[in-house]
Amino acid sequence: MTSTASEAARRRTFAIISHPDAGKTTLTEHLLLAGGAIRAAGAVRARGENRRTRSDWMKIERERGISVSASVMTFDHDGKMFNLLDTPGHEDFSEDTYRTLTAADAAVMVLDAAKGIEPQTLKLFEVCRLRDIPIVTFINKMDREAQDPFELLDEIAGKLALDPAPLYWPAGSGNRFKGMIDLAGKRFLPFTPPREQEDGHPAPVGLGGDALAAFLNEAEQAEALEGAELVQGASKPFDRQSFLEGHMTPVFFGSALRQFGVEELLAGLGEYAPPPKSVKAVRAGAETAVEPSDKEVSGFVFKVQANMDPNHRDRIAFLKLTSGRFQRGMKLKVQNTGKQLSVNAPTMFFASDRELAEDAYAGDVIGIPNHGVLRVGDSLSEGGLLRFAGLPNFAPEILQRVRVKDPLKAKHLKKALESLAEEGVTQLFRPELGSDFIVGAVGQLQFEVMADRLREEYQLDVIFEASPFAEARWLIAAKAELEDFAGKHRSAMGTDIDDQPVFLAKSAWEIGYVSERFPKVRFERSKERA
Ligand code: G4P
Repeated sequence: MTSTASEAARRRTFAIISHPDAGKTTLTEHLLLAGGAIRAAGAVRARGENRRTRSDWMKIERERGISVSASVMTFDHDGKMFNLLDTPGHEDFSEDTYRTLTAADAAVMVLDAAKGIEPQTLKLFEVCRLRDIPIVTFINKMDREAQDPFELLDEIAGKLALDPAPLYWPAGSGNRFKGMIDLAGKRFLPFTPPREQEDGHPAPVGLGGDALAAFLNEAEQAEALEGAELVQGASKPFDRQSFLEGHMTPVFFGSALRQFGVEELLAGLGEYAPPPKSVKAVRAGAETAVEPSDKEVSGFVFKVQANMDPNHRDRIAFLKLTSGRFQRGMKLKVQNTGKQLSVNAPTMFFASDRELAEDAYAGDVIGIPNHGVLRVGDSLSEGGLLRFAGLPNFAPEILQRVRVKDPLKAKHLKKALESLAEEGVTQLFRPELGSDFIVGAVGQLQFEVMADRLREEYQLDVIFEASPFAEARWLIAAKAELEDFAGKHRSAMGTDIDDQPVFLAKSAWEIGYVSERFPKVRFERSKERA
């Protein structure tokens, strides 16, 4: 018999974070392969191509050959149910990426062994740290010339303030990559280069005796064994509690492309990554904690995506379940609105294709088709009384002024911009003075997605222009302080989509300057939606 608690306990919901080109797509593919979700590498991309031809407004995705939207893939492997949240991985990433991380219970940080920690890895890592998401490290591309593994570990410790705990130790890299030592299991996992690789890599061998000599010559053996001994002496042993609390990261090595080290990573995720945890919420004004094993079904919407069919204004809301046993046909209520939804056609996203979900548990993500009823940050539950802390908005890094070419359509533009902002595509700010719309995003690509959607879905041709503002911060202060501040900075005041006050600054320097003079006003980089 399955219980809600034991089903939730076997869920592993995770995302992959990396800098572009570190190998996220390749690793995704090979994790699905290792998990038995797909049969051949390349399927992820093929499916992507398929999807692209069906989706019209995603033309941009096709033209650029990148994935703009995030989805989730589910597979059952070795007694665990894995939900892999796909975070878009382009130089220009968006709030979607950040928000997807709010639904992850763990993250795999992929590093290119030759490059170490790159700017976007760092940025995404910071979001994970903010949300207390434990991180598993995968050092990829060991089949290419790599940095000294000791230096890579030092970089993790230095730049991320995380204790790296290697579970494996590589023998060489590039042409001299021979495999890796399983530090706990005291075995050697041989790597075979592709030319000689027919039936995968050879079976592991013990560390002593002749078996190892078949793969490593004397000098290589000495180097690998010494390295392993040294690293074990120099680093703290892996401690799961410390990992779960965000102080330590277990480190795996491998080559995603050559399907080496991927099974070990998946096993590590199954064994060490956490199941969904209890989530803080408010029920009828009182704080409470929602446990995955609770009977009442609940969850929160972390992403809304326009449906593939441009003729319908359908949206799919992605709901991360936080408790209970969800069953198809169930009625869920949206907190604070009294809106009720019969969830008759929820989708689960198995790698092979979408399937109707019959039941799902805490940790799982289901897609709920709706006509714009559900918004990012909504809390859903059977009773309708639960509200989870809102999903944060992040201060945009680029602000632009948007204008519609046909001035008669200004009203229409306002509506369209509001609806895209509600969906979380971009943020919308109204300066107190003037009639401009200022649109904010964390990446340039978001503006293109927006222009494309305004044209396709709302028949609006827009122009983006340089904005007089470079930075936005949410203002938090007592009423009197806020009024005093706003009175003195009228030309820099604005409001966001929820009418919250925002300081629109010409530079980061200005924020520092002004905030020093108004110590009682807080200038926030992120905002939790009420
Ligand atoms: P991303 O999603 O993080 O942006 O990276 P992606 O997986 O697309 O990988 C970027 C490039 O690195 C790809 O090469 C991919 O084949 C290569 N790669 C990924 N993992 C490994 C690995 O373990 N070893 C080696 N040697 N290469 C790896 P590409 O030439 O840019 O693209 P493609 O034509 O191979 O698709």
